[in-house]
Amino acid sequence: MSNYHIKNLEEYFQIYRKSVRNPEAFWEEIAEEHFQWRRRWDNVLSWDFEKPEVKWFEGAQLNISENCIDRHLYTRANKTAIIFEPNNPDEPAQHISYSQLHAEVNKMANVLKSKGVKKGDRVCIYLPMIPELAYTVLACARIGAIHSVVFAGFSSTALATRINDCDASIVVTSDGSYRGSKSIDLKKIVDQALEECPQVGTVLVAERTKNEVVMTEGRDHWLAPLTEAAIDECPVEIMDAEDPLFILYTSGSTGKPKGMVHSSAGYMVYTAYTFKNVFQYRENDVYWCTADIGWITGHSYILYGPLANGATTVMFEGVPSYPDFGRFWQIVEKHKVNQFYTAPTAIRALAKEDLKFVEQYDLSSLKVLGSVGEPINEEAWHWYNNNIGKKESPIADTWWQTETGGIMITPIPYSTPTKPTFATLPFIGVQPALMDESGQELKGNQVEGRLCIKFPWPSIARTIWGNHERYRDTYFSAFKGMYFTGDGASRDAVGYYRITGRVDDVVIVSGHNLGTAPIEDAINEHQSVAESAIVGFPHDIKGNALFGYVILKDEAHERNQDNLRAEINRLISDKIGPIAKLDKIVFVPGLPKTRSGKIMRRILRKIASNDVSNLGDVSTLLNPDVVDQIRKIVGV
Ligand code: WTA
Repeated sequence: MSNYHIKNLEEYFQIYRKSVRNPEAFWEEIAEEHFQWRRRWDNVLSWDFEKPEVKWFEGAQLNISENCIDRHLYTRANKTAIIFEPNNPDEPAQHISYSQLHAEVNKMANVLKSKGVKKGDRVCIYLPMIPELAYTVLACARIGAIHSVVFAGFSSTALATRINDCDASIVVTSDGSYRGSKSIDLKKIVDQALEECPQVGTVLVAERTKNEVVMTEGRDHWLAPLTEAAIDECPVEIMDAEDPLFILYTSGSTGKPKGMVHSSAGYMVYTAYTFKNVFQYRENDVYWCTADIGWITGHSYILYGPLANGATTVMFEGVPSYPDFGRFWQIVEKHKVNQFYTAPTAIRALAKEDLKFVEQYDLSSLKVLGSVGEPINEEAWHWYNNNIGKKESPIADTWWQTETGGIMITPIPYSTPTKPTFATLPFIGVQPALMDESGQELKGNQVEGRLCIKFPWPSIARTIWGNHERYRDTYFSAFKGMYFTGDGASRDAVGYYRITGRVDDVVIVSGHNLGTAPIEDAINEHQSVAESAIVGFPHDIKGNALFGYVILKDEAHERNQDNLRAEINRLISDKIGPIAKLDKIVFVPGLPKTRSGKIMRRILRKIASNDVSNLGDVSTLLNPDVVDQIRKIVGV
């Protein structure tokens, strides 16, 4: 039995038990046998969830780009590392071999160095899903710079906030991006953002769409001439195990986004090991994750996890609906994809369309299907299983978070029997706990509570950039000595976990985490808005959508309400991004509040969900009448 590759349920249980009984010995063996180290660790693990502090493989030295690229050159130099599939199906795909990837990443690394980037510097990457994005991420890793990828759908304000939070002095972007039939002026968004970021001295611009751009003299440089002139050899920076590898922002329920910091060694070991097993990856398989590298799923399971295993990973620039709703399946057929990893929101959107978009393609290459980002509802699960997997490819419903770095609860395909809507069992080394509201652990099965993790795993985020206190308060204060996920979950009779959703004010819309408070802050800046409250409500395709209750200032009551709605959504688009726009906006005379002035969101959520059968006792509210007034306006 190899601990590295789990092949059946019995092995899963055996390895799981080993990993929990003696985590240090277990992870030490995995680390030792499957990676390249420049120096061995002195200590496998030290941790304290109260401080909180977690260190894996302390004393070890390595470079993750060397593990993802260089070491494969001996055996896989001509193997395809990345298949780049462009937005437009008529544009040829690019097969980038490990040796080409090596050359491109080294050139990019030299370009970054020539612009003064050093170990520990933050590099903000605001790029579409084009090969330069992969090159830049890996080039940062190579020279020890900390990458902070910002999803290229975020607005200029959101981008500026992220650049300033981590004090990046360089931004890598492109002239534009393609999304289906649209092209977006990315460079213009960067220019706007940089008005608020005086410290940024360098902008590197990849050419993609040939959109017209304004280049600021001295600051902005086209990337291509620089990489063409660069040498394709750049020695790796030797990194300590706990040196930060990247920062990735995720929404919090309050305040500004949290820059989750991931470190080098533990992140590498865990993403590689999970990738191998959750996707049952075999040499020469073609693996495709449809996420964007702007999210954690893309970091861990388009780039680092697959490349650390010497895999072939597909990078898709476009969207599932262009040129038609068969695009995903056309790509599966074209590249003979073996493992396909996507989000429930995409599945729901495609399930709504005619089956002919699926049936015209040969999907027989598929062996494993994955789902991530939000709970997958039963209907979507069956559609995926019947029509894409043809009931033969198991579905791995993978639960995890930006903060966890890698997959935490998931079936092991072909080993763990699947059950619709259940993420099933903890991955190797993961020790979940369900807690009740008084802080007691719920033992045994058939219980429901708040999902916590009791013991560190190698890829847990180490801190929030610049704010360790917030890290402690957010994740380690609700339940003593445990990492609190912010999710609720239940455990069934056989011990399978089902994630029930967020228990805080984060709403997952189309698989994107959105904190409601920052959106409220954005709306409240509108000159006609006095106060607002945003909640999530169930939506057929997006999973959840956003519902805004807005109190207008007196003088605004004369204004056209549709115009106001449009202005509010435009404001949200500008401040956060189009993904955070509200599906419904109602203008209300007040918001239900407790006597201490707290908005009772529970009531607002029920009204938004058209579920008013059990509103609970509203008589203790400061303003009980407002509930009926709101119900009348919403019509429930
Ligand atoms: C939710 C994405 C149910 C959950 C990798 C979590 C899920 C949040 C699942 C993290 C799943 C993710 N079933 N819910 N399989 N996967 N979630 O940080 O609420 O973008 O806390 O990481 O997505 O989202 P994030």
